[in-house]
Amino acid sequence: MSGNMSGQPTPKTFQLVQSTVINHQRICREHYRLTVSCYNFANARPGQFVQLSPEMNPQTDVGESCQPDSAQSGTDCEASLSTPALPFLPRAFSIGGLRRNGSTCEIDIIYRVVGVATEWMATLRLGQCISLLGPLGQAFPIIQEKPRAFLVGGGVGIPPLLWLAEALTNAGITTTAMIGSTTKELLPLQHEGNPAPYEDAREARLSSTEFARANTPAIISTDDGSFGFKGNVVEAFKSHVSANASESSRAVVYTCGPERMMQGVAVFCAANDFECYVCMERSMACGVGTCQSCVVTVRSEGPGDWRYALCCTEGPIFENSQIIWD
Ligand SMILES: Cc1cc2nc3c(=O)[nH]c(=O)nc-3n(C[C@H](O)[C@H](O)[C@H](O)COP(=O)(O)OP(=O)(O)OC[C@H]3O[C@@H](n4cnc5c(N)ncnc54)[C@H](O)[C@@H]3O)c2cc1C
Ligand code: FES
Repeated sequence: MSGNMSGQPTPKTFQLVQSTVINHQRICREHYRLTVSCYNFANARPGQFVQLSPEMNPQTDVGESCQPDSAQSGTDCEASLSTPALPFLPRAFSIGGLRRNGSTCEIDIIYRVVGVATEWMATLRLGQCISLLGPLGQAFPIIQEKPRAFLVGGGVGIPPLLWLAEALTNAGITTTAMIGSTTKELLPLQHEGNPAPYEDAREARLSSTEFARANTPAIISTDDGSFGFKGNVVEAFKSHVSANASESSRAVVYTCGPERMMQGVAVFCAANDFECYVCMERSMACGVGTCQSCVVTVRSEGPGDWRYALCCTEGPIFENSQIIWD
């Protein structure tokens, strides 16, 4: 179990690092994948996040234009000039992938453009510098005793599950992903082929390029049936579990996405006695436990039977049974 349910403060292992944009692609109508490179990023695990902000030393921008679907190399942060600073607080983004080579670390962030910060992010060009504070928060626990894992994600809840899939399969755990969006145009993943709409989710396929890299078959669902399983991802999850009852009984479920989606997964898991971990999302200002802006209501053994937990330090990962859903 992760240390996030105890309410105890965790050691501060995060730091502020400057990073350079080395890849930036539009992957669907509103989502982008941003890869940055930095040095000496502290140890991090899937489920943790970074607080991203413009680099603090604004100079004139000379970065290359970032075209949709381009895959180009970047330059050293020192060699390029950075973006003008914008007046917004750092924003939280899950680490969607992380690769190390000596002291150099590449970090993937998949984001959806929804407001001022993400609109600014969409303009980032190769070679530009941004600040990252991290790694922050608690990681998904990997339960070695359970040989199966189901990942259930929607929208911008998918990125942390990509990195988790890699960690689980590296740990020898057989993993299946169920990933959903309202429609094909908003699916933040590359996919192979165009599977005809199907009515049940018995068969998981290696149809997502990203999950396939982690040897993780995926069931892709769209609410409107424009791609893969027709229906929402909770229905796809339930359908897959009922069709694979024997493997499901020893599975751990990990979910990240819109709160109503996670609640649907959580209720099903509680009813079926599945161990389940949810990745909660709250608006965050500081990301490090100072501003108290990110509370989640959790069960407590203290006075009353509930308390507020800070999503940024005690979460964002919580065991399902801890959460008091609205
Ligand atoms: C731990 C954590 C991990 C996250 N990981 C990702 C990720 O991998 N990819 C991604 O695209 N987004 C992620 N988010 C959400 C991301 O932080 C927000 O989308 C981002 O801050 C929006 O900034 P903005 O200035 O573009 O939009 P704003 O102008 O600040 O907001 C636009 C709209 O989004 C809502 N909003 C903003 N932040 C949040 C939030 N945290 N939760 C719910 N609603 C919000 C606002 O209320 C508003 O309606 C994560 C959030 C948390 C807390
Ligand atoms: S974001 Fe400031 S306390 Fe959690």
